[in-house]
Amino acid sequence: MSNHQPNHNNFTSKIGLILATAGSAVGLGNIWRFPVLAGQNGGAAFLILYIFCVILIGLPLMVGEFIIGRHAQSNTAYAFSKLTNHKIFKNIGRFGVFTGWFILCYYIVVSAWALDYLVDAILGRFGKLSEAGNAQVYADYFHDFITNPYLPVIYTIIFILLSHLIIIRGVKKGIEKFAKFLMPLLFIIMLILVVFSIFTEGAQEGLTFLFKPDFTKITFSTILTAMGQAFFSMSIAMGCLCTFASYFTKEANLINTAFKVGVIDTLVAVMSGIIIFPAVFSAHFAVNSGASLAFIALPNVFQQAFSHLPTVSYIISILFYFLLVLATLTSVISLHEVPTAFLAEHYKISRTKATSIVTATVCFFGTICSLSNGVLSDITISGKNIFDLFDYVSGQIFLPIGGLLIAVFVGWSMDKDIIRNQLTNFGTIPGKGATTIIYLLKYVIPVITLLIFLSGLNIIKL
Ligand code: TRP
Repeated sequence: MSNHQPNHNNFTSKIGLILATAGSAVGLGNIWRFPVLAGQNGGAAFLILYIFCVILIGLPLMVGEFIIGRHAQSNTAYAFSKLTNHKIFKNIGRFGVFTGWFILCYYIVVSAWALDYLVDAILGRFGKLSEAGNAQVYADYFHDFITNPYLPVIYTIIFILLSHLIIIRGVKKGIEKFAKFLMPLLFIIMLILVVFSIFTEGAQEGLTFLFKPDFTKITFSTILTAMGQAFFSMSIAMGCLCTFASYFTKEANLINTAFKVGVIDTLVAVMSGIIIFPAVFSAHFAVNSGASLAFIALPNVFQQAFSHLPTVSYIISILFYFLLVLATLTSVISLHEVPTAFLAEHYKISRTKATSIVTATVCFFGTICSLSNGVLSDITISGKNIFDLFDYVSGQIFLPIGGLLIAVFVGWSMDKDIIRNQLTNFGTIPGKGATTIIYLLKYVIPVITLLIFLSGLNIIKL
């Protein structure tokens, strides 16, 4: 079982597998969701909690999924049922499949916004908006767009069809090549924008917000939000990374890979915070409004950054949104692939049919989520529209439950020899950190996740 099947397509290089996995992790979670949550939850204090969650909970869980995936060599739902006969654990994979589909239904809506912004950048619309001379126009522009009954729905459908076409062809081979080129480029562009952002006038307030903590704002619900965001951003807790790990070579060092992917993912989130918050403060936007700061502040940054060189602004905004769309597409593909692979294998239907079922259902619910920002905004449950509800339920409920189950499964139910062998590559590498990771998965993560989860939802009072 430990040997790879001969026809199983593995990632070929070390850097390739790290970047391909990072390609699934880096997406709207880093650039769109992180700034929204940091803005609502006190900035720096949230960032610190977030980093704690990444290190103590996220990384060990990522390693856990890698262990399951590389050992079982199969798709998410099967990986679990292959490894255990236990009823609950057998169903973790299915729960992950459902979560992936559920996240995709609203993630695709935000992907559509990114695609629209790419088109706007190409048409030079942001340059025209900047002529108004105040940043409010960007907020109005965004609001008008997402409440429009047609455009966002059309882009949502275009985006899902795009990923549909790629998924049908099979994604394995393309991903590595793509990621090796794409990830460094995204990183470089973001770095340029970070440098610019730090040196702009009035950046101080935004940077203070992001880096100077005020712990009085922290509640259990903040911690739950930070934990959910760590799961979301690192693509963990629904078994998606198992599939990636099944493509790893047997020489890949699982702990080291998880660490590097975690660092890349966190850096991208922090960098987008550094780019966005100074712009938000200098334009006097409400940082805690929950509004999608990335879509409001970023176009403004592009114009401001090179205000004397409109052509550079124009090119940078196209390049950035192009990369954002691609980074988003890799995440969408990883979310789409999980239910597709499950349907195809479980119900023995063709891949094309399975892809179509996922695409059609996501089109339907995606449209509803999209419209809930505009014409359907009156439908709310405890003050949240359907879009926000999908976001809340997946981040604050489904992913924490998935994380808890995976930790308990790897920590308590899986064969210890499998874990050791996977972490030390059958004794060929020292597997530094293995003991700590097993300890975290076994005791710390189940307890912390459960406590944070229940108190964050106000089910128990601590
Ligand atoms: N991590 C991706 C992002 O930050 C989203 C994502 C892709 C995801 N695959 C996932 C989230 C699996 C949870 C589980 O945009």
